[in-house]
Amino acid sequence: MRQRRLSLLDRLITEADTVLRTITNQGHSAARPSPSQGHADAELSEPERKHVAGLMRVNHTGEVCAQALYQGQALTAKLPTVRDEMQQAAEEEVDHLVWCEQRLRELDSQPSLLNPAWYGLSFALGAVAGAIGDKVSLGFVAATEERVCNHLRDHLKTLPEDDRKSRLILQQMLEDEQRHGENALEAGGTDLPAPVKDAMTAVSKVMTGSSYRI
Ligand SMILES: [Fe+2]
Ligand SMILES: [Fe+2]
Repeated sequence: MRQRRLSLLDRLITEADTVLRTITNQGHSAARPSPSQGHADAELSEPERKHVAGLMRVNHTGEVCAQALYQGQALTAKLPTVRDEMQQAAEEEVDHLVWCEQRLRELDSQPSLLNPAWYGLSFALGAVAGAIGDKVSLGFVAATEERVCNHLRDHLKTLPEDDRKSRLILQQMLEDEQRHGENALEAGGTDLPAPVKDAMTAVSKVMTGSSYRI
């Protein structure tokens, strides 16, 4: 009994630590080096630099949302295996978060000021999905990753041709997100109804539109 209470306390401290690290953009470290490491930066014009920074800011906010979503789901997921799987995926999202933030700094820019709000919303959505049930929760992950992959493909199309550093980051992220989505479906994730997916697309459009600028 005593051990169980301690483990719950440990979990709460870890969760609080993750929230603070994510919304303050401090203290996270990537398990894998950035795919852009060792590659020379391109000579970008000022409009190009601003455009790439906008894209990387959107992707960074997406990763903040992913952290929150996984965290919210892990909190309410019923099966320990689902919880473990989500925590593992959340750890991979930390790499993406750090890579995007590093790239933003290299571009002389910064993460979105709206990240705390997106964190809160995503956490709540994740917790609700987890509370409904593991199949819905996993389906929510799959549908989210599908939308993230669509953004990443769009961004890869509009990146300046010679911005190899950003391209390598986004390509690796795309590969990882596709795998996260496939794993969620293989683990039993349900295909969410079209209206839910449409609502998710609408919310993600608000996120991408605002984070590109602010
Ligand atoms: Fe990610
Ligand atoms: Fe992912």
